[in-house]
Amino acid sequence: MSILNSSLRALIKTLASLYFDFVYKPSQSRNYKAVSGKVLGKAELHNMIDATLDMWLTTGRFNDEFEKKLAKKLGLRYALTTNSGSSANLLAISALTSSQLAERALKPGDEVITVAAGFPTTVNPIIQNNLVPVFVDVELGTNNIDHSQIEAAISSKTKAIFVAHTLGNVFNLEQLQSICKKHKFWLIEDNCDALGSNYLGQATGSFGDIATLSFYPAHHITMGEGGAVLTNDPQLRKLIMSFRDWGRDCWCPPGKDNTCNNRFGFQLGALPEGYDHKYIYSHIGYNLKITDWQAACALAQLDKLDDFVAARRKNFEQLSQGLKDLEKFFILPQAVDSAEPSWFGFPITVRESAPFSKIELSKFLEANQIGTRQVFAGNILRQPAYTEHNFQLRIKDSKLINSSELKDEHYAMLPNSDVIMNQSFWIGLWPGLSSSDLDYMISKIHQFMEEANG
Ligand SMILES: Cc1ncc(COP(=O)(O)O)c(C=O)c1O
Repeated sequence: MSILNSSLRALIKTLASLYFDFVYKPSQSRNYKAVSGKVLGKAELHNMIDATLDMWLTTGRFNDEFEKKLAKKLGLRYALTTNSGSSANLLAISALTSSQLAERALKPGDEVITVAAGFPTTVNPIIQNNLVPVFVDVELGTNNIDHSQIEAAISSKTKAIFVAHTLGNVFNLEQLQSICKKHKFWLIEDNCDALGSNYLGQATGSFGDIATLSFYPAHHITMGEGGAVLTNDPQLRKLIMSFRDWGRDCWCPPGKDNTCNNRFGFQLGALPEGYDHKYIYSHIGYNLKITDWQAACALAQLDKLDDFVAARRKNFEQLSQGLKDLEKFFILPQAVDSAEPSWFGFPITVRESAPFSKIELSKFLEANQIGTRQVFAGNILRQPAYTEHNFQLRIKDSKLINSSELKDEHYAMLPNSDVIMNQSFWIGLWPGLSSSDLDYMISKIHQFMEEANG
């Protein structure tokens, strides 16, 4: 880069810094204690300015650097960016349907074990790929898959387990890995809520065959809209890239040709010999790539990840300590042994015996400027999208049914998923909340309790 070019860039960034200081002065306390939010600084702005001045627009140098640094940070070989966590999940499942995986490929009608209490786009790619979701229940407290129910749910069609680390809390990876190993199942970790979590000192997202991340602003780091697919397996990496990049067979990055040195040497499908490899499609793919502005933002965010995770853990501790005396009314979140969660939120389940409902408490908190959220879809099988969209499913060891046949007897097989829907919610612990914000939240919950107890 010439001296004039770099001097002009520096000048533009100095002006942008002045703008940032003037417009985005950090406030010490927030009126509304939101459940989540982004924490952006000048580094993100400067990187995005560089990406703008590059005028490259599509995936470029910032993305290359981000993918490498992200993989290294998590101790993985490959990280592939995509335009959302939902796209990452779609890519994870789609990649596993590739015929290049021979007998291990997921085929229509194959079963994938998952949970009903979670985020919709963990389940949707299973349905969208004509696979059969098999639902087992979750545990209260961890809000994660109850691994003791998995063996009974397995059938000759089961091929994979795909579950999330709910709200950053780590599911029992040892148990799930050992089940997957024993039965030769794929393990896919939806790590969208859990960037920075560890299990036995190793990053979550590095245990499964494939794992996913979301970089939506609510998450641990952000690029606006964005996500990533993680794997250690070179074959899976190639398949994920293919599905992400239009289904193409070629793996050249945008703007590059002939990285295989055999661009005109292929004969695939019924194509003529020598057909340009850049235009050979081996999968029914998508285009789910990101732009370089997104990567530029996330690159600066990644440098702050350790601080963000430390703040989330500290805030979790403060909320846990502050609400401990209310365990008579609440099931508070707990981590499994050997896990160090990087919490996304602080889930609270109101006990059946409490003299108030979750909705009463949530309304009181919202009226007092404290944000609350549901544990995503609650029991997803009660959502209109799932009762009204015809797809095949199983629950635990039950027989195959169509979603239009769902009845109370089926819901009764997933009692904890219903508890999560009826009695659980979560409050924020993101780094933008100060210790006094959290004290305020704790004191308001106590005030509600005193009033509820008359
Ligand atoms: C567990 C889980 N999976 C997937 C997603 C989807 O991520 P995105 O919003 O980036 O599509 C979310 C979103 O919050 C999530 O919580």
